[in-house]
Amino acid sequence: MKTEFDIIRWFDRHHHLRHRAMLELVTPFLAKSSVGGVIMPNLGKPITTAALAKSYKQKIMKLVPKEMSFDPLMTCYLTDDITPDEIEEGFTFPQQWVAAKLYFKGHTTNSHNGVSDWEKLYPVFEKMQDLGMPLLVHGEIPDEHHDIFDLEKICVDNFYEIIRKDFPDLIIVAEHITTRELGMWVRESVNTFGTVTPQHLVFNRTDLLSGGLKPDLYCLPILKRDHHRISLRKIITSGNSSFGAGTDSAPHESSQKYSSCGCAGCWNIIPAPSLYAQVFEEEGVFDRSDGIKVFENFMSKNLMSEVYKQKITSETMRFEKKPFQIPKIIKGVSKIVVPLMAGETLDWSYTLR
Ligand code: DOR
Ligand code: ZN
Repeated sequence: MKTEFDIIRWFDRHHHLRHRAMLELVTPFLAKSSVGGVIMPNLGKPITTAALAKSYKQKIMKLVPKEMSFDPLMTCYLTDDITPDEIEEGFTFPQQWVAAKLYFKGHTTNSHNGVSDWEKLYPVFEKMQDLGMPLLVHGEIPDEHHDIFDLEKICVDNFYEIIRKDFPDLIIVAEHITTRELGMWVRESVNTFGTVTPQHLVFNRTDLLSGGLKPDLYCLPILKRDHHRISLRKIITSGNSSFGAGTDSAPHESSQKYSSCGCAGCWNIIPAPSLYAQVFEEEGVFDRSDGIKVFENFMSKNLMSEVYKQKITSETMRFEKKPFQIPKIIKGVSKIVVPLMAGETLDWSYTLR
């Protein structure tokens, strides 16, 4: 098995950087690890205009260490009122965003401005299809009649299938896939892609709920039964090019995470590359002759040109099978965040070349 190898520097295809003090605290961690990220628009005041996207990107770039090359790809937050013209303005020259993110209203962090009736957005989807602008989806429609563990599975029939048929050329990215059903659907659909987080490949709902509640593992979509985790690992390690790394790294101030109504989100950017490597190792990928290529494609290449129209960098990073200790806590000027796997030692280290 290969225990030391280089790949093209990875790209996080799903990342939350927040704003103000939290933005300042977490941005360097993404910039020092990856060559860029698809930056989610769900701020308290969401990114709904080209002007907001431009100023958010400028704030991010000020926090990137000078020696790093780092490219944040901005996204637009879909609301009930957004118009096809506004979508087009941000996507065409000078381009401010590369995709639009659909949050169904009221399910997850800062989704209160999200979409309440998605069928009313058909003119927007039509425009995106014409422009070749990808639709990124948090595939859970909140509904008091359905169990939280079923929301993603239900969304396959109640949303993804319908939109796929009505807009066959629209590029769709199913974000943070957690179920076998959605993984298989993405694999079998055209113009359809998916991201998968490290926590959904490593943990299941028993890890979250048994032997004491683990707020650090609470994210949305919520962790599922183990058979889903097992299926997702098989799907992504098979080498299918429709899937890529997207951490959904989502920091919350520790007082809000560890509370009687704790926020959903794992701040996983520090352990993420190591955990992905661990998954590929455990699935036997590094024993295969094409194994490093398969891992590199998942980390750094898949989706990058087909969905995001980006050139692949020539910069590289090195993975080594040697202990990597995750810090217990990260303190900023006014914020404290706890990384996923805080205080634990992982099997794979990574360094930039
Ligand atoms: O766990 C999550 N955290 N899921 C999301 O969809 C949003 C994210 C956040 O922004 O905190
Ligand atoms: Zn997210």
